[in-house]
Formats: sequence, structure tokens, C-alpha cells
Amino acid sequence: MATQILLNNIEVPGLTGIEVYRKLGGYAAVEKVLKTMTPDEVSAEVKKSGLRGRGGAGFPAGMKWSFLDRKVDKPRYFICNFDESEPGTFKDRHLGSLNPHLLIEGMILGSFALGARTSYIYIRGELFYILNILEKAIDEAYRSGYLGENILNSGYSLDLHCHPGGGAYICGEETALIESLEGKRGNPRIKPPFPAVVGLYGCPTVVNNVETIANLPWILQNGGDAYAALGTQSSKGTKLISACGHIRKPGVYEVEMGLPVEEFIYSDQYCGGIRNGNKLKAVIAGGSSVPVLPAELILRTDRGEQRLLSYESLSVGGFESGTMLGSGGFIVLDETACIVKNLLTFARFYHHESCGQCSPCREGTGWMEKILQRIENGRGTSKDIDLLVHISKHIEGNTICPLGDAAAWPVASAIRHFRQEFEDHVKLQKCPLSR
Ligand SMILES: Cc1cc2nc3c(=O)[nH]c(=O)nc-3n(C[C@H](O)[C@H](O)[C@H](O)COP(=O)(O)O)c2cc1C
Ligand code: SF4
Repeated sequence: MATQILLNNIEVPGLTGIEVYRKLGGYAAVEKVLKTMTPDEVSAEVKKSGLRGRGGAGFPAGMKWSFLDRKVDKPRYFICNFDESEPGTFKDRHLGSLNPHLLIEGMILGSFALGARTSYIYIRGELFYILNILEKAIDEAYRSGYLGENILNSGYSLDLHCHPGGGAYICGEETALIESLEGKRGNPRIKPPFPAVVGLYGCPTVVNNVETIANLPWILQNGGDAYAALGTQSSKGTKLISACGHIRKPGVYEVEMGLPVEEFIYSDQYCGGIRNGNKLKAVIAGGSSVPVLPAELILRTDRGEQRLLSYESLSVGGFESGTMLGSGGFIVLDETACIVKNLLTFARFYHHESCGQCSPCREGTGWMEKILQRIENGRGTSKDIDLLVHISKHIEGNTICPLGDAAAWPVASAIRHFRQEFEDHVKLQKCPLSR
């Protein structure tokens, strides 16, 4: 079994309680850091680890922290993004519900490094049962002296609050999240200024994903170098992958970065192969917001190298023949799946979730949904296929936030790699895969 940083104790009974968590070495990183390290030393260790943000974009966490405006005389905020609404992504709720103290410990470490005195976990409203688990764990942490005034007599004080989300996918975008946390409608802000300068209540703010934050206790206990020794050149450590779709063993797996995609799909340790012995058709590797790749390209790059689970390997070939690791929501489709129908499901989702501020996204997502529906129903034309490409090109890069890109990329890539299947829908005037 590969190194497990996040899931190693996940099956231990009673792990949500502070006693069991502490028995397994929990809160040792907080004790060490608050007694022996300065905030700058903590930040330096995180930078050294090479940890990249696990929320989707893969931005280096240490670098993001270094942008925080420390000169201005205002409070600083650290926010955990626990919105997790990306289709196919269910790793954060797995980790957060089964090991809440790991996340709380990470929040204390990050808040200390950034000089935050009040921090928030913004959790998707629908995950109400996890909100209860987190609030109970936060209470325990207060009672044990890990939160509140003068933590472990270090002179450092921190209050940690949970905030249920606004009930929209867009509230996971960090500036929409900040708006929502301020009590407003979750509309993304125009950037710059970035949250590191003008964030929550106009103050310097860092937003990180649950998985990013949950890595901090291990990094601070074992050192940035130990973390950087795991994984590949540009993708350090491990990654949680939530695997779903037409595989034998759907679930959340922790893999060391650099695991071959083929091994991940076919090995019994992970997905266990394709259901019913069917053939692999396509994978959407990073949640629904990334380009779709056909079997041959998700297993091997067009240069013939094995494709690996890492930021750099999945993107080999750019958008012509590559994709992105994104949030790690790994959606597998077998030969029985209709690409048009799957794309239609995504398009409906993005149309529904568009906040409506930018016309290319507001109108374009709706047009894409309508056209895909027409093609799937057997009433499309060849011109419709070109029209989809045209619309996706005009959405991409022309919107305030990346939701527009997220809607456009899967459609554009599906037509690039599966154009014949779209043409077959048009020619047969029905879905060729429907019975
Ligand atoms: C439409 C949209 C939805 C997003 N949803 C999430 C989410 O649910 N969770 C998350 O961590 N990041 C999400 N992000 C990314 C965040 O904006 C942000 O980059 C991330 O929380 C930063 O954390 P990280 O640096 O640790 O990855 C979303 C982005 C967009 C554009
Ligand atoms: S891209 Fe879409 S979701 Fe993002 S701000 Fe524009 S309209 Fe809203």
C-alpha cells in the first residue's frame, strides 16, 4: 500500500472523537508548532513541501500564502473551502466526516502561519450531517485547549466557526464563497484585487481546500522535505481521488502522485477494472470541469508515454490531447455510455448553476444544453455540432470566473475526440447507443 497521509487511520472506530484522534498522534503538530516554531517557519515548511492546492487549480499553497498582505493593519482570515459541489467529487466529505479533527488541526496550523485570529470552514449546506460532526469536534477542540484564548499557553488565540453554504455550486468559487460568507448572494468578484489583498470583509484572506489543509499536520510533523520526497517533480505528496462511474470498485482512494492511470483503473487495490468486463471508453479525470479523454489518451499520451496521476502528466498535449487533474473526481465511462447524453447532463448542470453575471456563460450554457438535447433526441444537424464548438470557443476565457471555461471544455473536447458519435446521432436521428 502506498504512503497514506490522509486516510491512514480512517477506519479506526471513534476517530471523530478527540480522544481516539489524540491517541493516534493527533494534535502533536499543533503542540510542536505552537511551542517551537514561528509563523514564518511554518510557511517556509509548507513552501518547501511543494504542496499544491487540491481544490482544482493546483496552485502552490506556500506561494498563495506568501501573497497575503501582511503590511496592512487589518485582521487576516483563513477559510476552508468545504463546498465540494463539483460533479464526481466526493473526497472532502469522506475525509471531513470521518476525520474532522485532522481538518481542525490543519486549520489551527494554517491560521497560525497566516496570523488569522478568526477562521471559517465554509461547508456546503446540503452536507448538514457533516456540519454536526464538525461542530461537535470543534467543541471538543475548544474544551481541550486547542482553540480559543491563549492556545497551549503560546499566546496565540484562534476562534474557528463553521458556516453552511448558500446552496449553489458557484459558492465554491473562492470569491463567491467570500461574498456568501459575508451574507450576500454568492456572485464571483472581478479580480484583481485577489482575496490575499482584499478578501473577507475587505481584509487579507486565504482560501484553501479541505484536502490542502488536511495535509498540514503531516507536513509540519514530518517536515516539508519528507513531503516533497513523495510524488513526482511537479506534483508532490499524495492525492485523494474519488472514483465513480463504470468501475467495479467506486470509492475514495489516496494515491501517491505519479501512479499510472492504467494501474489506478485496473488494479484490485483501486478501481478494480471496468464493470462486467466491458471496454473503457472515456474518462473525465478531474471532476466534470475538465476535458474528456478517450481510453487511448487517458492511458497513454500521444507520445506513447504512460499517463500518470499527476498535474503535469495529465496535461501533456495541452487541450488537444491532454486534460487536468482538477479536483480529483475521476469519472469513468465504459463502451455502453453515450458521450452526448453525458455531456448533456453536464451542460444542464452548468446552465442551472451559472450565476448569470456574464452573458457568454449565462446564455452560452443554455444554448449548449438546448443543442445537446436536440442532438441526443435525434433532431440535430451537422451544423449543430459546429455551433457547439463555436459557442464553447466564445465562452472560454471571456467570463469573470472559470465556471464558463468549466462548461465549455468538456463539450469542446468531447467533439474533438468523439465527433463521429455526434455525427451518428445526426445521421441515425436517434442515439446510436439507445436500445
Ligand atoms: C465554479 C467553481 C467551483 C469551485 N468549487 C470548489 C469547491 O467546491 N471546493 C474547493 O476547494 N474549490 C473550489 N473551487 C476552487 C476555488 O475557487 C479555489 O481555487 C480553491 O478553494 C482554493 O483552494 P486550494 O488552493 O487549496 O486548491 C471552485 C472554483 C470554481 C470556478
Ligand atoms: S462565468 Fe458564469 S458563473 Fe462565473 S461569474 Fe460569469 S456568469 Fe457567473
